[in-house]
Amino acid sequence: MSKLGVAVIGVGFWGKNHVRVFSELAETELLAVCDANEERAKSIGEKYGVEAYSDSKELLKRKDIEAVSICTWTTTHAVEAMRALKAGKHTFVEKPLASTIKEARRIVDFARQRRKLLAVGFIERFNPSVQRAKKLLSKGEIGELVSATAKRVSQWPERIGDVGVVKDYAIHEIDIMRKIFEDDPIAVYAKVGSLKHVKYEDYAQIMLTFRHGKTAFIEANWLTPYKIRKLSLTGSDAIMELDYLTQEIIVETSKRTTKPRYEWREPLKLELQHFARKMLKNEEPEVTGVDGLKALIIAEAAIESSKSDHSIRLNFDKLS
Ligand SMILES: NC(=O)c1ccc[n+]([C@@H]2O[C@H](COP(=O)([O-])OP(=O)(O)OC[C@H]3O[C@@H](n4cnc5c(N)ncnc54)[C@H](O)[C@@H]3O)[C@@H](O)[C@H]2O)c1
Repeated sequence: MSKLGVAVIGVGFWGKNHVRVFSELAETELLAVCDANEERAKSIGEKYGVEAYSDSKELLKRKDIEAVSICTWTTTHAVEAMRALKAGKHTFVEKPLASTIKEARRIVDFARQRRKLLAVGFIERFNPSVQRAKKLLSKGEIGELVSATAKRVSQWPERIGDVGVVKDYAIHEIDIMRKIFEDDPIAVYAKVGSLKHVKYEDYAQIMLTFRHGKTAFIEANWLTPYKIRKLSLTGSDAIMELDYLTQEIIVETSKRTTKPRYEWREPLKLELQHFARKMLKNEEPEVTGVDGLKALIIAEAAIESSKSDHSIRLNFDKLS
């Protein structure tokens, strides 16, 4: 099997995991790493026996690198993604695709123009519990899906200083709601606020309305002293609860509780393996640039709704 030559740009808290996974996958050959922090780049490069760069422009000159993953600060995603696409690399950008809608649009348009594949890191799509929940839903295990509630909370990871909890945390659930309902929301109403973070919101309650009266509710914050990542689905016949962390699923009717057991699998490994396989076949990945853009449009509308105290109508007709 031919391997995809890859490099990781930004090897901090999360990018280090990309490096490890790319070094483990049969589908990829890790060729280089880059971090603006020279020491960090060097130590990761040494650990994995690959070249280390402190400037992505130098790394991108290499012809053997076919794809890159961008795990830098969110506010630098746009510059780094445009650079990678311009250098002719297929590009995986960690979530959120960019820090603003405007930047995200530019990346999506540029990838199309350059005919390069663009993927966005909505990792929960690859969480086995989400994939099982989707299968159970399509088999009618809970009847007709009516509403969904997600909770993604923990203490503020202080390294995140360039976007608020809506674009950093809630955006995962925004994408999952689009996936679960297989539709785009038609309106958003939200309340967000800040208690500890000086610059951005650190708590948010977001309600999404879908067609046919279906609704989703997302609670995200950086205030809860421990980590909770849960999704609960209400159907006409039963409810389903899943825990993103343990990957457990429970289905309950009025008479029966079922808790199927499955082996835990690392979502990042599944996500990057999918990315590599798609790039090797030159096919669109599961999570496209448009998915990243739509999630940002919904996230910004949520923040705007909170400011204006009104629900915001959403229309994605012009985006495909
Ligand atoms: N999908 C997920 O579950 C998940 C989880 C964590 C973080 N993330 C995303 O990953 C990104 C990074 O988050 P983090 O927690 O690792 O942050 P971090 O601060 O730990 O790491 C970011 C690294 O990028 C480097 N950097 C910044 N700008 C750069 C540039 N222009 N060129 C090269 N290096 C640069 C920094 O020096 C730092 O080492 C964020 O966008 C975040 O939203 C995604």
